[in-house]
Amino acid sequence: MRKFLFLIFLTGAGMASAQQHPLFKDADLNVGEKLIAENQCNECHIRRVGGNGSAIYNPKGRINTAGALRGMVEYCNTELNLGFFPEDTNAVAAVLNKQHYKFR
Ligand code: HEC
Repeated sequence: MRKFLFLIFLTGAGMASAQQHPLFKDADLNVGEKLIAENQCNECHIRRVGGNGSAIYNPKGRINTAGALRGMVEYCNTELNLGFFPEDTNAVAAVLNKQHYKFR
């Protein structure tokens, strides 16, 4: 059933796909934003780069695909022991993509 709905979404929502990378179609941005706030991603990044921390996100650096972005979030999840479920990782990566990396 889920797969079926996903297919409908893929074929029917051409406009929406221009906004967000296909990897993140199912991502819940509200969950992603909540997880970013709860896990103090920005606090730690600010210690490193200052400002509001977002300078750490470098779309022109080594993270240069949506898959690599999600992989990086998964890596942090493992390293920092955040206990994300796969959909959590996806949601966080989706928010970062929407706000910073903008991979299509
Ligand atoms: C304990 C500190 C710390 C915490 C907490 C932390 N990060 Fe990071 N993060 C870093 C550091 C340091 C780097 C830079 C690593 C480097 O440049 O080699 C980084 C880099 C990244 C990058 C890669 C940026 C780029 O474009 O190269 C992403 C994506 C990222 N963090 C996501 C997150 C997310 C999402 C969270 C919260 C769930 C998080 N981080 C929490 C320290 C942290």
